[in-house]
Amino acid sequence: MPTVTLTNFPKAELHVHLEGTISPEMAKKLAKKNKIKLPDDLFTEDGKGYRWDSDGTAAGNLVGFLKAYDKVAGLIKSAKDYRDITYDYLKRCAAEGSIYEELIISADHGASVGLSYKEMVDGIAEGVSKARKETGIEARLLSACVRHYGPEKAVEVARQTASYPHELVTAFHMAGDENAHSVEDFVPAFEIAKTAGLAISAHAGEAAGPESIRDVKEKLGCKRYGHMVRIVEDTAFMKEMEKFGAVPEVCVSSNLELNVFKDYADHPLRRLFDAGFKVTLGSDDPPFFKTSIGREYQIAKEKFHFTSEELLRLTRNAIDAAFVDEPTREKLLNKIGDYQLNLLSNKRALRNKRR
Ligand code: ADE
Ligand code: ZN
Repeated sequence: MPTVTLTNFPKAELHVHLEGTISPEMAKKLAKKNKIKLPDDLFTEDGKGYRWDSDGTAAGNLVGFLKAYDKVAGLIKSAKDYRDITYDYLKRCAAEGSIYEELIISADHGASVGLSYKEMVDGIAEGVSKARKETGIEARLLSACVRHYGPEKAVEVARQTASYPHELVTAFHMAGDENAHSVEDFVPAFEIAKTAGLAISAHAGEAAGPESIRDVKEKLGCKRYGHMVRIVEDTAFMKEMEKFGAVPEVCVSSNLELNVFKDYADHPLRRLFDAGFKVTLGSDDPPFFKTSIGREYQIAKEKFHFTSEELLRLTRNAIDAAFVDEPTREKLLNKIGDYQLNLLSNKRALRNKRR
């Protein structure tokens, strides 16, 4: 009987930005290949992490971080680069036991290096298929507008997404600086996406509080939220959102690195889970925040005392809320079911041995 470990434990991630998965090692490879001089201040002293300007506030740190993020994204120059970073990330995830990944992709970043939306998506799709063939990992893509790039660009991204339907692109998303523009400005972009049959989600409740989440709910109609952790600032609204079935995509390491919360004790992961939210875990921009999806599960276990059953619940929540077709969802749920059976029989075997 296979042993049950946190490595082979089935994991799933609904919140990770593709450009944010580029490791410093991959960044250096891309820079060399594309003959780009790397900015001196991009890496930490040991070269293993990234650096960005931080003013100590959640809002200010997000802005500083997003500038460093754009520098790293600018190292991609071709569809093949997109294929390579996608494959590289999914392989790493599969090695940590992830069965499903939703990657947030950005047509604006592709366009900034001269790639069309189609070239970018086709490159990414090649990376997904190569990783799926080798490891069995499944993935879908969320085409995102960047809030601080403004509503006109968002409409353009929505139009491009709608005009090139792709089986892997199942949703439209809004990332970027939550304090830029008003949510209302993005209604036209989201209307285009909804009309095209895409699911929707958006960042909210990370660099701004409950009002920002309420805006996204009321104006855009999202059920899934990138972060949403600052909902704990309004307990009445928190109850309302739990009843509504809102799904928070919680990224603990990201929140600590960007000073949304000061430490694990302050972070509301456990509180949201215990309040009944269908919590899911994400790594957001893993090498920037010195993490991975495996590490986020480890943190839930070690710092927030999630039991194996509770960790499995996080994976099940992610698959239940995934922007995926029903046969694929069923396949993924079966993988969790198989693992759960294994877990139970291991427990039974252990009990019998003790008798
Ligand atoms: N883009 C990449 N990471 C992000 C984050 N944590 N918040 C908003 N936009 C992002
Ligand atoms: Zn994010």
